[in-house]
Amino acid sequence: MIKNISVIEGDGVGPEVMRQTIKALNSIAIKYGHNFHYKNVLAGSKAIEKLGSPMPEETIDICLKSDAVLFGCVGDTKYDHNTIGMRPEDGLLKLRKKMNLYCNIRPIVVFPKLDKSPIKKEFLKKIDFIIYRELTGGIYFGEKGRRKNGEEAYDYCIYSKAEIERIGDMAFKAAFLRKKKVTLVDKANVLETSRLWREVIKRISLDYPDVDLDFLYVDNASIQIIMNPNKFDIILTDNMFGDILSDESSVLTSSLGLLPSASIGDDKSMFEPIHGSYPQAKGKNIANPLGCILSGSMMLEYFGMHQEKNLLEKAVQNSIEEKICTPDIIDSKLSSTTEEVGDYIEKYIINQ
Ligand code: IPM
Ligand code: MN
Repeated sequence: MIKNISVIEGDGVGPEVMRQTIKALNSIAIKYGHNFHYKNVLAGSKAIEKLGSPMPEETIDICLKSDAVLFGCVGDTKYDHNTIGMRPEDGLLKLRKKMNLYCNIRPIVVFPKLDKSPIKKEFLKKIDFIIYRELTGGIYFGEKGRRKNGEEAYDYCIYSKAEIERIGDMAFKAAFLRKKKVTLVDKANVLETSRLWREVIKRISLDYPDVDLDFLYVDNASIQIIMNPNKFDIILTDNMFGDILSDESSVLTSSLGLLPSASIGDDKSMFEPIHGSYPQAKGKNIANPLGCILSGSMMLEYFGMHQEKNLLEKAVQNSIEEKICTPDIIDSKLSSTTEEVGDYIEKYIINQ
């Protein structure tokens, strides 16, 4: 198969983890006779510096025309208190919106060999759930601003029935093929948007009589994710709660650096690790490339390349079993570099 893939390395450790991902994907392409054509495009702080925007029109055009986008990470502390009114993160949000990537899928899988989670081992058994995070609506995208001479600020949280329906349907379809349970996480005791979510999702659930639906308030969900994580199958939630709960869930897995995600729209897709740009680690060859590599594997699955995806995931699994790991998931005296992890995975695939 021929696939045109836009690549946004982004800021911080983005280029380093992306390099390992491309290595892994190239070895898959060689093994299975695919042609992956990559096109590097700018976003985030590099794009602000070179083109005056965190998401230049040219980048959006190229991403819209490609079969998929691979995204590293964006963010740079130098924009935390700037006065130019733009941030690298705005670029990511704009691209998600322009590509209409409303469904962000974040699988939480615990590799049994890892023990860097601060949570007691007995809580970590049989964890296998996926967060379905709405990605183009809610408080992230509602009108925002300042009033009263800047002394008052507002961010509107808005959801339409149609926005809830389209991700709701995807969540139920996924649950039907798995453990047949959807948990809607919201704050329906306080928020009107959450009450609309409940109404719409209850209605969708009637079309899926084999799938159980339950509801959790987000404050309670944040406890259950730690105390009873094996009770979950699909967690369905809005943009903001999904952002927070996916970072929390990463604590179960030993490292935020391990977790991939797929952002899906009606006919477009982008694959990005859930971690940020980790500026303290930039250029040090210590960042975990597995979140980005596993995002690549979600892309293979999206392309319908199931064997390819399985092989890539097996390579990742083996790198962990052989303890070829970055210092976030293994004792730092025994750790490998970002590049060594990538080399191992590349070789493993070629030698299969
Ligand atoms: C994520 C990130 C982004 C988000 C930031 C970088 C805007 O935290 O993908 O989880 O909040 O969606
Ligand atoms: Mn986040």
